[in-house]
Amino acid sequence: MSKKKLIHFKENLSFPFLFQCRYHELNTPFPLQGCWNEKFFANSNPIVLELGCGKGEYTVGLAKAYPDKNFIGMDIKGARLWRGCRTVKDENLGNVAFIRSLIDYIEYFFLKGKFLKYGLLFPTPSQTRKGSV
Ligand SMILES: C[S@@+](CC[C@H](N)C(=O)[O-])C[C@H]1O[C@@H](n2cnc3c(N)ncnc32)[C@H](O)[C@@H]1O
Repeated sequence: MSKKKLIHFKENLSFPFLFQCRYHELNTPFPLQGCWNEKFFANSNPIVLELGCGKGEYTVGLAKAYPDKNFIGMDIKGARLWRGCRTVKDENLGNVAFIRSLIDYIEYFFLKGKFLKYGLLFPTPSQTRKGSV
């Protein structure tokens, strides 16, 4: 692994809007499941979820264009998520969160029916388990 990647992974741990769980933690309830509005965004605005957000360009771009909505980007790649996280931090965006996880575990993080919209944009089929998304 490159030194740059290691630095980015370390910095990922410092972003309060990036959630990444270890597999053993999946046995305990995720504290924001079903209450992202109340416990994280602190507003009642609708939430838009982007699955496979990569570097978070759509998530961040939409969050800037629609400050009256909340946006969550989900991806398994920490190095890509770092890019989006840096922008959220640098631009002090309060309506964005990221989750580092396989999409397969979506139900650990969310309750069904709580989104305005969700999308799977330009996915990488080789990384997606068959039938999981
Ligand atoms: C081709 S990139 C597209 C990124 C972004 N949506 C865009 O359009 O720029 C696909 C992304 O989906 C993520 N991905 C694919 N399968 C996934 C899975 N099962 N769980 C989490 N992320 C996944 C990859 O890590 C990658 O960042």
